[in-house]
Amino acid sequence: SSGITEIELGVTADMHVHLREGAMMNLIVPTIKQGGIKVVYVMPNLTPPITSIERVKAYKQQLEALDSETKFLTSFYLNSNITPELVAQASDEGLIQGIKCYPAGVTTNSDAGVDPNDFSNFYPVFKVMQEKGLILNLHGEKPSPSNHKETEFEPRNDDEDINILNAESKFLPALLKLHQDFPQLKIVLEHCTSKESIELIRHINKDKTSNDEIFVAATITAHHLYLTIDKWAGNPINYCKPVAKFHQDKLSLIEAATGGEPWFFFGSDSAPHPIELKCVYQNVCAGVFTQSFVLSYLGEIFEKFDKLDNLKKFVSDNSLKFYNLLDDKPLLSSGKSVWLIKRKIQIPKLISNSEVKVVPFKADESLNWTVEW
Ligand code: NCD
Ligand code: DOR
Ligand code: ZN
Ligand code: ZN
Repeated sequence: SSGITEIELGVTADMHVHLREGAMMNLIVPTIKQGGIKVVYVMPNLTPPITSIERVKAYKQQLEALDSETKFLTSFYLNSNITPELVAQASDEGLIQGIKCYPAGVTTNSDAGVDPNDFSNFYPVFKVMQEKGLILNLHGEKPSPSNHKETEFEPRNDDEDINILNAESKFLPALLKLHQDFPQLKIVLEHCTSKESIELIRHINKDKTSNDEIFVAATITAHHLYLTIDKWAGNPINYCKPVAKFHQDKLSLIEAATGGEPWFFFGSDSAPHPIELKCVYQNVCAGVFTQSFVLSYLGEIFEKFDKLDNLKKFVSDNSLKFYNLLDDKPLLSSGKSVWLIKRKIQIPKLISNSEVKVVPFKADESLNWTVEW
């Protein structure tokens, strides 16, 4: 091995987290700091989703009341409530860094989302986002028609033959079209899971030099660096959307995460669900909970591939740059840096308070790296 036993990570950022509300929020918010993360970009898929100034302001205040040190970046949920005027106002008041777009029906609380076959209704919103420098965060999966009982046994042509394994690939043309129509709009393909996605993001950025502004990036989770189909098919704790795919996809994600390219950065997609909703025989909630130990999971992989030197790029530099946080003086000068230390840590079997229990990723396993700050 490299012989490295500690690494300074600076102002660590996790650009895709689910913090929920109520008892779950109270349990999860303290795990951000425990996991060594300073900045989080918080997803808006609450019930009902966050689509108003009042709601996003109130949610941000609740989060800040639970943890006054962590920097919470918040977002809107794209649906028909989101108007260009609302977006402009929320941006001017510093209440949103971006807008999350969930194709209708693909994942947790996404019923109110949009149809990726036709984004044209939202073009006036995207235009304002582009002007304001807001980020469009895409859940990149094409909805499957599998719930349409009427057509269950009808033949389907290729573009309608969509399932959880190919839903991400089938979404990629929609990403390309958005980038063509709004070349200066910052777009993130969230929690990408396939070699095809990694290659597309590289292709889009192929002529960029390191000083150019980047407009299309992707987040990669920690759990997708470990999982493949076989590891979730029989284990609902490892089931998330987009699902983990093949071995070659996993290797491609690892290569992208550890490689240091500025268009790839960390977004854990840590998505806690109560154990009673994960361990069921049907309608298993999608989501893997990683927040408490995100840097330990990453340290293990970066060490294995001898890329510990690139970890800071993945968990700090690349995302702070893409999200324009490098001129946030109070954030950057606020405190001590986070360190990853080579010291064994045992992942608990359960994380809980009096009201809710969550099973963490790799529960009851021992990992080699822990955090200090
Ligand atoms: C729940 C929901 O949608 O209400 N999840 C799910 O159906 N997959 C709860 C939640 O994730 O917030
Ligand atoms: O697995 C997932 N869980 N994927 C998502 O996109 C949403 C998330 C959740 O909110 O539970
Ligand atoms: Zn998503
Ligand atoms: Zn998510």
